[in-house]
Amino acid sequence: NEIYFDGLSGVLPPYPMVFAELEERARAALPPGIWSYVAGGAGDEHTQRANVTAFLQHGLIPRMFVGAAQRDLTVSLFGHTYPSPLFLCPIGVIGLCAQDGHGDLATARAAARTGVPMVASTLSVDPLESVAGEFGGTPGFFQLYTPTDREVAESLVRRAEKAGFAGIVVTLDTWVTGWRPRDLRTSNFPQLRGHCLVNYLDDPVFRTRLARPPAEDPGGAILQWAGMFGNPLTWADLPWLRSLTSLPLLVKGLCHPDDVRRAADGGVDGIYCSNHGGRQANGGLPALDCLPGVVEAANGLPVLFDSGVRSGVDVVKALALGATAVGVGRPYAYGLALGGVDGIVHVLRSLLAEADLTMAVDGYPTIADLTPEALRPVS
Ligand code: FNR
Repeated sequence: NEIYFDGLSGVLPPYPMVFAELEERARAALPPGIWSYVAGGAGDEHTQRANVTAFLQHGLIPRMFVGAAQRDLTVSLFGHTYPSPLFLCPIGVIGLCAQDGHGDLATARAAARTGVPMVASTLSVDPLESVAGEFGGTPGFFQLYTPTDREVAESLVRRAEKAGFAGIVVTLDTWVTGWRPRDLRTSNFPQLRGHCLVNYLDDPVFRTRLARPPAEDPGGAILQWAGMFGNPLTWADLPWLRSLTSLPLLVKGLCHPDDVRRAADGGVDGIYCSNHGGRQANGGLPALDCLPGVVEAANGLPVLFDSGVRSGVDVVKALALGATAVGVGRPYAYGLALGGVDGIVHVLRSLLAEADLTMAVDGYPTIADLTPEALRPVS
């Protein structure tokens, strides 16, 4: 209502309301290497595109005489009630999208302002303790890329617990970087790597693995870090992961129902269905098409979902297909590039306003009303 009434009285939103325009403005604002990194995906990017177009295959069917004048979009996750079902996906090196370089802090501040929780990437420009320090009343989650050195992994988790994160999200689909031609074309890796290792370089256990302090030998520190990746986790590692923390543990990147059942049996607290926004494996199903099977197999565990969400209508459709919470990736990175904290807040508020109005107009006043029955295939 605020956005709409401001608009009607001539106060127009300072940033684009529609994703295509937001993307275009961000492309013009960001240096080409950074743009390629954020906007790009795996291979010819057809899975990335399919993530977006999959939403068009589902049509909401409006209901009348419902009286949806009041809507309730609150969501309970691991004991905390959030005012909306949105969350901010982990984006490594997001600092490079911010004019002052502190994109992680900006994202955490936007979380505090909107009540939309942040999943903070391990690969951040700002230390995880500082990021958590900005959450205010909106507890966020720490996303772990698991190094092969278990003691370093444990140290990161201990620090996240101490910093006040509300849960640990272990990303499983990125033990090695996908085939991303745009990155190769703009050869931005060295630029990116130097900017995202603060959580390692500051880590007391990681530092014991270095012959010389990072300040004296930055190249050596990067090599040491890189040497801790490239080995995938297996099911045999799940009990260890589970034993790492008493915080809620979620696993990110699950799309196959069998994997979901096995993870649930292994004691995870939540499933995060995602194909990494099409950045890892090209040629896969759109993440949205995997969601119903994941929800069924999760058998009541919370299911976080991301990949391809570009509008409030998309949020509503993902909820109807069973997501407990819906993540936004690139759209908020573009908001950050255009307007820092305000830009992210704008993107989140626009998505929420559209989701809320869609639920009002279509007659689904609560998230519980949004079931698969609210959707029909578009012919
Ligand atoms: C990501 N993503 C990601 N995921 C993760 O678990 N850890 C990370 O550090 C990153 N880094 C990252 C960087 C960039 C530039 C992007 C765009 C994405 C994946 C992210 O969490 C999420 O799964 C996707 O972004 C969701 O898809 P959309 O909304 O971007 O289509």
